[in-house]
Amino acid sequence: MAQTFESILRYPAADVECAREALERAVGIVREDLGVFTEKFPSSNSFGGFYEAGENVEWTTGFWTGVIWLAYEHTGDEAFRRAAEIQVDSFLHRIQHKIDVNHHDMGFLFSLSCVAAYKLTGNEKAKEAALLAADHLAERYREKGQFLQAWGNVGEASEYRMIIDCLLNLPILYWASEVTGDGKYARMAENHIRTAMKCILREDNSTYHTYFMDMETGEPAYGVTHQGNRNGSAWARGQAWGIYGIALSYHYLRDESYIELFERVTDFFIKHLPEDLIPYWDFDFDTGSTEPRDSSAAAIAVCGMLEMVKYLDEERAKKYRDAARVILKALIDRCANQDTEKSNGLLLHGTYARDSKENTCTNRGVDECNTWGDYFYMEALTRMVSDWNMYW
Ligand code: GLY
Repeated sequence: MAQTFESILRYPAADVECAREALERAVGIVREDLGVFTEKFPSSNSFGGFYEAGENVEWTTGFWTGVIWLAYEHTGDEAFRRAAEIQVDSFLHRIQHKIDVNHHDMGFLFSLSCVAAYKLTGNEKAKEAALLAADHLAERYREKGQFLQAWGNVGEASEYRMIIDCLLNLPILYWASEVTGDGKYARMAENHIRTAMKCILREDNSTYHTYFMDMETGEPAYGVTHQGNRNGSAWARGQAWGIYGIALSYHYLRDESYIELFERVTDFFIKHLPEDLIPYWDFDFDTGSTEPRDSSAAAIAVCGMLEMVKYLDEERAKKYRDAARVILKALIDRCANQDTEKSNGLLLHGTYARDSKENTCTNRGVDECNTWGDYFYMEALTRMVSDWNMYW
């Protein structure tokens, strides 16, 4: 059954009070987790409900630092600030020594840890780390094709592609231009999103996960999935990265053409939600499927809608605000962790990666918490209860 904006309005919506309660509960869990995850970082996803402690590696550790900053903002408790600052030092070390950073995820890692620290506390070490990260990301910009190469060694033929997730790595470039006065970072970001929208967004408003460019000519070549079910399907999290990524670029660039792009990508997402509003990991699956959900996709989409409504005319703003609140309520009711004996995460029922015939993944973090699901859930709640100044 296809959802419509009218059909989802029949569901209950989150209000400020229920968001505040959910945020209080989440902050309580974060406080309990701090003992283990201050010097160490949580694994990308939980295992049997529990994150494991590890080093500052992979693309996902910044989400946990972002969660701690959100808890600090909500409570004003210095214990959160001290823990986040220990992690900021770790991020400075990581970028100075180029530890596990041969990829494009500098925004995921450094916006939520270091840009956040700089914005909230004026931390100069955090600013230094975030600017080093922006410089490092800028090295991945490919003039031939005008995009940021996602993975692998830069310029490598077998990896000459972009991925939709990268839209969330653009804000650190916009921010770097703002703080340095050097427009080159923002220019790369703007060129990247223009190229991405040209290639990755399909006519039916679904999105490719990844898109290869011709290395010789710079022309778009072909789209394939990495984490979706099929090359031609819409990976739920990818579609959500599209929603929030467009909203974030709109925030910085105020390019009116992004409003229509936002509507196209978001309307597809809403239309394909199952009856209980928690998306399956790929929109190939609908109500009644036994495939796992990806709650993180819903949390990301809610944040994107709550950001974009700030810039829309009242009629459109109401439509997306209402939709965001309904989806957030479904997350609170169906996915929020209520029992720390069973999980140390915030948002249950995420899927990191699911094996399929056409993708190159093995099952990972299936029906588990993941750090980005936790982060975007907390960001969505924070957006509901305050006039939040974003870290992106
Ligand atoms: N950015 C990687 C993912 O969403 O799994």
